[in-house]
Amino acid sequence: MATKIIRNKNSFVLLNEDLSNISESIFAYFENNQEITSTRKKTGRGTVTFFRDGQLNLVHKTYRRGGLIRKLISNFYLWTGLTRTRAYIEFVGLKTMLELGLSVPKPVAARIVRQGIFYKAELITQEIENATTFGKNLAVNNLSTELLERLGRTIKSFHRKGFMHPDLNIENILIDSSKQIFFLDFDQARPLQPKKIQASSDVERFKRSIKKFCLKSGRDFPKVEWETILKSYDDKAH
Ligand SMILES: Nc1ncnc2c1ncn2[C@@H]1O[C@H](COP(=O)(O)OP(=O)(O)O)[C@@H](O)[C@H]1O
Ligand SMILES: [Mg+2]
Repeated sequence: MATKIIRNKNSFVLLNEDLSNISESIFAYFENNQEITSTRKKTGRGTVTFFRDGQLNLVHKTYRRGGLIRKLISNFYLWTGLTRTRAYIEFVGLKTMLELGLSVPKPVAARIVRQGIFYKAELITQEIENATTFGKNLAVNNLSTELLERLGRTIKSFHRKGFMHPDLNIENILIDSSKQIFFLDFDQARPLQPKKIQASSDVERFKRSIKKFCLKSGRDFPKVEWETILKSYDDKAH
């Protein structure tokens, strides 16, 4: 999967050359408040818009800061070079992970616009269709043993290939209608050598996000389900 990088004055556009119909004009959908054919809009930390371009169902994300700092500089980040921008890291990370056979959405395009010492960034990926988050499935008790085992194996597959997810939480895991699991939101991911991976840190992060959800919704931590995930992670057979 080759990547084309187009530079115009202060902006950089990355395009996935596997998709022949995609050009930098894809970002025109998001300029000057043009009406976009978005089907659903969700707000997380970033602003995500679902839209259609030709035959493709796509998802557009604007990178935004979380926490208090967001109120001050919302979607601006300090420029320290193209390859250190969130969108570049996520686009290239997704591309590499896909090539390694890991289950992530296909990157379609990214745009980084420099403004003085800051930049703003966007990413477009192919939509994982008919998918729901792990959080949603947890909320409605829709977690079969098979699915939990698959999740343990999925986490393991990333670690095996030298990737950990620094922000593995219940909203960054998607499950499609055939119960395939995808990991999302890799804007800080960097490939690590397998031996350097602290397997537990993203697993612990994931556990904290389940605990947080349980606390909020007044339920007990799903101990049995958690054990099932860990057991299949540790299973030497995969
Ligand atoms: N390729 C995709 N296919 C389907 N849903 C997606 C896709 N990318 C993002 N989403 C949805 O949008 C939400 C936010 O996207 P994410 O990349 O996690 O950004 P952030 O958490 O920084 O706002 C996800 O939790 C998921 O529900
Ligand atoms: Mg997210």
